[in-house]
Amino acid sequence: MRDHLIIFDTTLRDGEQSPGASMTKEEKVRIARQLERMGVDVIEAGFPAASNGDFEAVKAVADTIKGSVVCGLARATEADIRRTGEALIGAESARIHTFIATSPIHMKKKLRMSPEQVMEQAIKAIKWASQYTDNIEFSPEDAGRSEVDFLCRILEAVIDAGATTLNIPDTVGYTMPEQFGNLIRTLRERIPNSDKVIFSVHCHNDLGLAVANSLSAVMNGARQVECTINGLGERAGNAALEEVVMAVRTRQDFFPCDTRIDTTHIVPASKLVSGITGFPVQPNKAIVGANAFAHESGIHQDGVLKHRETYEIMRAEDVGWGANKLLLGKHSGRNAFRSRLLELGVQLESEEMLNNTFMRFKELADKKHEIFDEDLHALISDEMPFMQERYRLLALTIHCETGEIPYANLVISEDGKELRAESDGSGPVDATFRAIEKILASGTELQLFSVNNITSGTDSQGEVTVRLQKSGRIVNGHGADTDIVVASAKAYLGALNNLHSKLDRAHPQV
Ligand code: KIV
Ligand code: ZN
Repeated sequence: MRDHLIIFDTTLRDGEQSPGASMTKEEKVRIARQLERMGVDVIEAGFPAASNGDFEAVKAVADTIKGSVVCGLARATEADIRRTGEALIGAESARIHTFIATSPIHMKKKLRMSPEQVMEQAIKAIKWASQYTDNIEFSPEDAGRSEVDFLCRILEAVIDAGATTLNIPDTVGYTMPEQFGNLIRTLRERIPNSDKVIFSVHCHNDLGLAVANSLSAVMNGARQVECTINGLGERAGNAALEEVVMAVRTRQDFFPCDTRIDTTHIVPASKLVSGITGFPVQPNKAIVGANAFAHESGIHQDGVLKHRETYEIMRAEDVGWGANKLLLGKHSGRNAFRSRLLELGVQLESEEMLNNTFMRFKELADKKHEIFDEDLHALISDEMPFMQERYRLLALTIHCETGEIPYANLVISEDGKELRAESDGSGPVDATFRAIEKILASGTELQLFSVNNITSGTDSQGEVTVRLQKSGRIVNGHGADTDIVVASAKAYLGALNNLHSKLDRAHPQV
């Protein structure tokens, strides 16, 4: 009998801790639905004590998802745990994940608590959490740099108090695979009641070792891996879900366990997360990068044509490449449109939103003829913030001619008031951004501008990401259109909207 490896996805929580990656409630629900469809066992939906917005987002995910356990993160305080318990009340199956730091440096410098105080707080946290659920996960933060004797003591105590999963985080991505695997083995061997719990791991990628460390832990008895789509996460990110899952599946001869992930949903999930967060996937990224299955050299191409396994250890279609589904065309009606949205896990909040999106779908179908799921996701992303938008693009005229200076003529609305500006620039996008700044003088600094095609072909929509920074606050905006200058203007205004709308949120680990 092979063991089951639990896949715990934290894209919506640790992934959201990447600067500029914060997500709205609707965006979290869409990603959660995709994770559920994929067969993720546990979805960490957020940190409810961070803000009212995150509380509502975790609650919405808990109320929607049926096929996965929904988890919320809480510091080891009564207030955090109660807030998390309340956010999860509607979940069919809920887990509270509570944590406190255990490394000497964190206890002394960050918490200013003695090891005994930390231990006492951890036990109390489990007791508070058990008033809401029996499914309780405990993490000793910065376990990778904690003393093993203290880890054994605190973990034994939280198991006695009722914790059911022990998650061992390498919070700062410091450990080496062999060392981390040994740590898991040692904990399992030395903690007397360790057989009562599942051991989990949560590895950060600061040295590029998050996946290697997670897999080494699996070889030493960990049976839950915490990971994120595209490896999103704090700083250099977390272990990438797609890499962990495909390693375990491809090397069944090596690993003693299997996941229940339907891997054909991996690439659509990657595109969805990249589109929503505006974090592009590098072309050479394993599994989900555009070149992951492309063969450039003639020798490789020849080999693959003769016998695929000469150079390919996985099949592109098994991870969802080529799953681009032609779904609707210009003659499709509103009902077909609505049901496809539902299949994609999107429930627009009002008839007005449905009408707007349907109208924009028709406009797109006139330009593009073939509409794929990716196009629909981009349309929805554009429509979601519609209700709370402060700035909106109304019209844009661009003049570009060889040998002439490009010129943009722009009309936007600010809280419903129409404003106009013109500007030249080094290119059409530069001219457009300058025109926006003439009107809004936002005082922001452009940190990132990127354009990706959503589907293949020159009629594809371009998806633009703009990242702006102001007074230490980083926000992303994205826009999609078959005209990339229009997409760029939408993305820039989207980022400014986010700058205005997002309330400050607490960071769990600070
Ligand atoms: O990296 C970390 O230690 C965490 C914990 C909250 C699990 O994200
Ligand atoms: Zn983390």
